[in-house]
Amino acid sequence: MTEPISERVTLGNTGIAITPMGIGTWAWGDGVMWGYGKGYTDADVRAAFDATVAAGINFFDTAEVYGLGRSEKLLGQFIRESGQTFVVATKFMPFPFWLTKNALRRALRNSLKRLGMPRTDLYQMHFPLPPVPVETWMDAMAEAVEAGFVRAVGVSNYDMKQMGRAHTALAKRGIPLASNQVFYSLLHRDPEFNGVAQLCKDLNITLIAYSPLEKGVLTGKYTPDNPPPGPRKNIYSREYLQKAQPLIEMLRDFGDAHGGKTPAQVALNWTICKGAVPIPGAKNVRQVQSNVGALGWRLTDDEVAALDELSLAVKA
Ligand SMILES: NC(=O)c1ccc[n+]([C@@H]2O[C@H](COP(=O)([O-])OP(=O)(O)OC[C@H]3O[C@@H](n4cnc5c(N)ncnc54)[C@H](OP(=O)(O)O)[C@@H]3O)[C@@H](O)[C@H]2O)c1
Repeated sequence: MTEPISERVTLGNTGIAITPMGIGTWAWGDGVMWGYGKGYTDADVRAAFDATVAAGINFFDTAEVYGLGRSEKLLGQFIRESGQTFVVATKFMPFPFWLTKNALRRALRNSLKRLGMPRTDLYQMHFPLPPVPVETWMDAMAEAVEAGFVRAVGVSNYDMKQMGRAHTALAKRGIPLASNQVFYSLLHRDPEFNGVAQLCKDLNITLIAYSPLEKGVLTGKYTPDNPPPGPRKNIYSREYLQKAQPLIEMLRDFGDAHGGKTPAQVALNWTICKGAVPIPGAKNVRQVQSNVGALGWRLTDDEVAALDELSLAVKA
């Protein structure tokens, strides 16, 4: 048996110690995107949780909207039954019809109830949706911190400007903006080019990389002749999957050079080399155990540069 992961990184300026990779739990209870209840069940995600804990991963990401609350419920139940403590991140969805800070208070209360916890470690704005200004939501976040329901505040899908505004609004209350959770994978490198990654570095805000496996594409198991099931078929066309194959070949080659790492492990390692904390989704034990193999080693600078170059060609 391999040793549990002992490496920790700090979440922004918060002092909260997390493993360099977390686990995303969108698929835990979600039938629409992920087919929950068809190819996998409560028992599978329960086993995925146990495998995550056994591997020493201490950071879980969920949201009120995942599985319409089921993800939070399952995660809370598993954590309670484990008798251990973890760093739990959840999210508030600021639907455009939520117009006051009270909506965040209510949503937070409901999330905590589903999680069965007195507070969440990281409470994130899920999207920067209008019409309520960033500053109003950050005020509500600050109040939740002061009331003891939230340990740290994060945002998600915020661009550079929105992130700067959130950071400034929280700073006025003496609270750091801990993280910005954005779509970041070898096939989706926008944060590197739109200023988000740089601002995260400048302000010591953790960049949490969601969909770091490009929803399974970077594992190499999906090909033009074997596209992903469900709605993902509409996101990843045959042409796109075709274009991605040389990159997946390179992931495979570099994995071989590192003692038989898989394309998924190399793709996750790439995000870590870029300074991000990836939160791959995992539906079962096998996926957790495989993804954990992304930790404890590093691609070389030359390998990262080669992946960077080839990944741009996939977009072209
Ligand atoms: N803030 C946001 O707006 C936002 C948006 C999206 C996601 N997220 C968060 O980020 C997390 C991860 O993103 P994601 O779930 O969209 O995408 P992802 O992590 O790129 O891909 C996850 C999917 O890839 C497949 N997979 C994972 N590990 C594998 C392995 N080792 N071998 C083979 N297949 C594997 C599984 O699906 P199959 O087996 O079905 O292929 C799994 O559900 C989510 O769970 C959620 O917490 C946040």
